[in-house]
Amino acid sequence: DPYDHLFKLLLIGDSGVGKSSILLQFTDGTFAADQNATCGVDFKVKMLQQGGKTIKATIWDTAGQERFRTLTSSYYRGAQGIILTYDVTRRDTFEHVNQWLEEVGKYTPGGTKDVILVLVGNKVDLEEQRRVSTREGEAWARQRGMLFIETSAKTKLGVKQVFQELVQKILDS
Ligand code: GTP
Ligand code: MG
Repeated sequence: DPYDHLFKLLLIGDSGVGKSSILLQFTDGTFAADQNATCGVDFKVKMLQQGGKTIKATIWDTAGQERFRTLTSSYYRGAQGIILTYDVTRRDTFEHVNQWLEEVGKYTPGGTKDVILVLVGNKVDLEEQRRVSTREGEAWARQRGMLFIETSAKTKLGVKQVFQELVQKILDS
C-alpha cells in the first residue's frame, strides 16, 4: 500500500521491562501476563496516519538479555526513532538507561543526534510497587533532549502516545 514515509523504530532496554508487551499492545491491542522473553530480534509493521501523512512504521523488538543479543549494529542501522524503556518498579532498569544510551551512541553513525529518542517508564499500573518517580524519569530525559512518557502495556495508558509523539518529532526534525 502507498505511504509517504517509511520509518524504522526500535525498542531497547533491560529484559523484562515490557518492550514486547508495549509493542503487542500497540500493534495488536493485546496483553499477556505470561509474555515470553524475546530471543533474538522480531519486528512488526504498522501503518499510521499523522498530520495528513501515511507512515509505514517497522517496529523492531530485541532481547534485553545479553545472551540473546546478536547483530547489534544491523539492529540499529537506519533507525529514525528509538524507544528506551525501563520498568518503574525496578530501580536497576532505570540505572541502566545510561548504558543503553551509550550503546545507541556507539551504533548510530552520527551518534545520538541522528536519531529521535523517547524514554519510557513502563508498568505504571503497579503504582504501589513504584521505585522510580515520574519526576526522576522526566528530569533524566529532559537533560538529554529526549521525550518522556510513562506507560502501562497492561492498561494501554500512554502506549499510543509513545508512537505518536515519536513519529511527530521525526516528522518535525
Ligand atoms: P525481553 O524480551 O526479555 O527483553 O523482555 P521485555 O522487555 O520484552 O518484557 P516483556 O514484554 O516480555 O514483559 C515482561 C513481563 O512483564 C511479562 O510478564 C509481562 O506480562 C509484564 N509486563 C509488561 N508490561 C507490563 C505492564 O505495563 N504492567 C504489568 N503489570 N506487567 C507488565
Ligand atoms: Mg521481549
